[in-house]
Amino acid sequence: MSFTVAIDGPAAAGKGTISKAVAERFGLAHLDTGLLYRATGARVLDGLKPLAAAETLQADDLKRDDLRTGDVARAASQVAAIPEVRAALVAFQRAFAQRQGGAVLDGRDIGTVICPEAAVKLYVTASDNVRADRRYREMKASGMDVTPESVLADLRERDARDSVRVAAPMKPAEDAVVLDTSLMSIDDAVARAVAIIQAAM
Ligand code: C5P
Repeated sequence: MSFTVAIDGPAAAGKGTISKAVAERFGLAHLDTGLLYRATGARVLDGLKPLAAAETLQADDLKRDDLRTGDVARAASQVAAIPEVRAALVAFQRAFAQRQGGAVLDGRDIGTVICPEAAVKLYVTASDNVRADRRYREMKASGMDVTPESVLADLRERDARDSVRVAAPMKPAEDAVVLDTSLMSIDDAVARAVAIIQAAM
């Protein structure tokens, strides 16, 4: 059985940064599962039907330059509410989790649906304002035309849709360790995650 770390939580809570850092630290493969939904959403914006977009997803689709835009994030969360779309993406994620040498997967439903047997489950969260501020700075830094208000509104809309949907709603698994990063530096958050994973190895 391979060693799997499941990291879930809302947008811009620090999941991505923590996942990359712990994957590197422990030599585990890393899959940002949000990219699967973003790439599917981007293809729907191109005109494909959601299920076809998910079923025919190719590795190159995950490398598109537009995956970090607000429009694609919204489209991702819309397609992510469709059960058939989620089902089409399960096998790829589970196969990734089974890799020899272990893997870190981050998303919304990794600990609850994709890898309920994961050795470690973290639910990384932070207050709305802290998350919106982080995301605003990231988007501004990469040259996007956004305001703090629009980023906060988009984030809240997306979190609401992700948590109320019937198919694999965003929520901590019962056995997840909740890590609130609102008042933590990146280094502190990574150090906490490393300690939790180390204790499970
Ligand atoms: O994590 P990221 O912000 O890139 O995810 C984009 C969207 O993809 C989320 O808002 C959510 O709707 C969806 N998603 C999901 N399940 C996952 C990962 C992402 O529903 N495991």
